[in-house]
Amino acid sequence: MPAREPRLWTIDTPHTSYVVALDDDDRLHGLHWGPRLTREQAVTLLSLPEPTGRSLTDGRDAVLDFNPASALRFGPTGLQVRFPDGTRDLEFAFTEDVATDRELTLVFTDAHYGLEARVHYRTFPDTDVLERSMTLHNQGGDPIEVIRADSATWVVPALEDYRLSRLHGEWGAETQLTRTALPFGETLIGSRRGMTGHQANPWAALDDGTASESHGRVWSAVLAWSGTWRMTIEKAPTGRVAVSTGFGHDPITCKLGAGERLETPVSAGLYTEDGFAGAAAAWHAYALAHVLPHPEEVRPVLYNSWEATEFDINAEDQIALATRAAAMGCELFVMDDGWFGARVHDRAGLGDWTPNPDRFPDGLRPLIKRVHEAGMRFGIWVEPEMVNPDSDLYRQHPDWVYHQPHRRRTEIRHQLVLNLARPDVAEWMHRWLDELLTVNEIDFLKWDMNRPFTEAGWPGEEDPDRLWFEHTRNLYRIIDRLRADHPHLRIESCSSGGGRADLGILRRTDQVWTSDNTDAADRIEIQEGFAQVLPARVMGTWVTDSPNPFTRREVPLDFRFHVAMAGALAVGGDLLSWTEAELERGAELVADYKRIRSTVQLGRRHPLKAGTVAGVQYSRADKVVVLAWRRARRLGYRDPLVALAGLDPDAVYRDERTGRVHHGAILAAHGLDLDLNPADYASTMIELVRTS
Ligand code: DGJ
Repeated sequence: MPAREPRLWTIDTPHTSYVVALDDDDRLHGLHWGPRLTREQAVTLLSLPEPTGRSLTDGRDAVLDFNPASALRFGPTGLQVRFPDGTRDLEFAFTEDVATDRELTLVFTDAHYGLEARVHYRTFPDTDVLERSMTLHNQGGDPIEVIRADSATWVVPALEDYRLSRLHGEWGAETQLTRTALPFGETLIGSRRGMTGHQANPWAALDDGTASESHGRVWSAVLAWSGTWRMTIEKAPTGRVAVSTGFGHDPITCKLGAGERLETPVSAGLYTEDGFAGAAAAWHAYALAHVLPHPEEVRPVLYNSWEATEFDINAEDQIALATRAAAMGCELFVMDDGWFGARVHDRAGLGDWTPNPDRFPDGLRPLIKRVHEAGMRFGIWVEPEMVNPDSDLYRQHPDWVYHQPHRRRTEIRHQLVLNLARPDVAEWMHRWLDELLTVNEIDFLKWDMNRPFTEAGWPGEEDPDRLWFEHTRNLYRIIDRLRADHPHLRIESCSSGGGRADLGILRRTDQVWTSDNTDAADRIEIQEGFAQVLPARVMGTWVTDSPNPFTRREVPLDFRFHVAMAGALAVGGDLLSWTEAELERGAELVADYKRIRSTVQLGRRHPLKAGTVAGVQYSRADKVVVLAWRRARRLGYRDPLVALAGLDPDAVYRDERTGRVHHGAILAAHGLDLDLNPADYASTMIELVRTS
């Protein structure tokens, strides 16, 4: 059936519309991404001139939503291929639209070569987040080389100015938020490392430079993918901006054989008028409602033994730690690295996934039994995608790692990356994990991935670059199978801390290890960046020792707890060296957290800031939780009041600890007296309950 004239589609979310339309050459223009429009209103966009630039007559300046490489496209394009005869330009004709209640697919077919592109849009009744993806189908008789197949190109409206918010970082310093003016040209963020990466997170937001936390128009997009990726934010000479994002990176390509389909991951986009905090809250709600498995389940307070023992582990010490962790109120005990093969340090044993016979002569079951008897669930660390060259696995299968002929095999942390794109490696990996979970009553896996790909080759494979895609697909498949066969299993995604924190892995895991930097002072910034897109429910936060093993900074216990309580609280310190007083105070704070955790993990987040005091507020139903901290007072000034957000001005809120009552109108307009200790590193947790 031919599409309704004019060939324009409004893709509606509860409060917004994304409008695309075809021109006479079947090019799909992005006309609107903003407040909700009726079709009648949207159609009038067709008679408006392009808001910037000179003329559309040769099509050069058009801002396209589906943007294949073709004549007169001089900027970055979202779809690039090479046909066997060398042709690279695409000439797509629109074929049909397929619409259901919440999904729209626009189908394009190349005028000569048998290539079909299906451009998908998906909406939900409860969020303004819009999901997009693309499917390529090679309907010709020959393989095609795919150079770039982006999930979506997001056309941002013409603005007076553009400010780009993004997350950069490195190991121990993940998700650092920056907001800078968007320069002309192409700003590229991404990963060429095989995983999402610490260096950038697949999220970007644009505003006109005036948005605040609580007000202003913000456009943001994410890519739900855990392998290599790129996001190109182009500000054209006309001043127009588009964000194109997808998997893969330059210069890798992959072949699409005759008859084969390529499905891209999802890119999701969001327009909001509620400022940065409003955008973050909408992303969190979307993740809870449409991405995470078990969304309503609050995360247990876990204890992780890594910082306490590192590789020096044995069953007695683990039991001693578990006993103290249970007494503190922890609900899940996670034994970290060092339990298997010859893994008594990081130079050997990775890949040999049987319990170390000296450390666990009777296997893991006695320890697991003790942990369960202590009332906790049991979790265990694995790093399935890696191998130490000094391991039985590598001695048996030296060809199972990524490598290239005549090139060295570069080791990082004495390890190499297994070629998970290989079906036999994927099968082996699934088999031993499944057996580990079947033989032992394991409730939780911490799935780690500690190094990027290097010498990423696959000798003998005719299309070796496909390893970059297939590795992540097989990772997803294995996790999906394990979850299906072991429905009680919960999984933490870790990659030397937060190197694999994205909405692709979170579709099949339950939380993320946010950073190996557990210093509470540094964590404030890391958590603020993380929270731009990912909810507190998945943000793993450990309370560790002081001085902090990573930074050597000394931070009081309450401050460490209060910062960690802003996420999925856990304990990761060496409890055998904590004093009785610290253990007791820790137990009180864990109990405090259990009272507030459903508000923190499932509630609406508002960042708080007043002078030197900062923190977060979480609100859910009639509960409001304030977690706030201040490193040092300035010039002897008293701490300012902190204005709360999103309260009912006519309601009254009672402080659960002091019994004091506060009017919503006063809390919003003047603020709350946090009554912080004047000493450095002061912090507090305040629970307010709406009483009227
Ligand atoms: C890196 C992780 O981020 C740490 O928490 C720990 O699990 C180590 N790997 C173990 O090797």
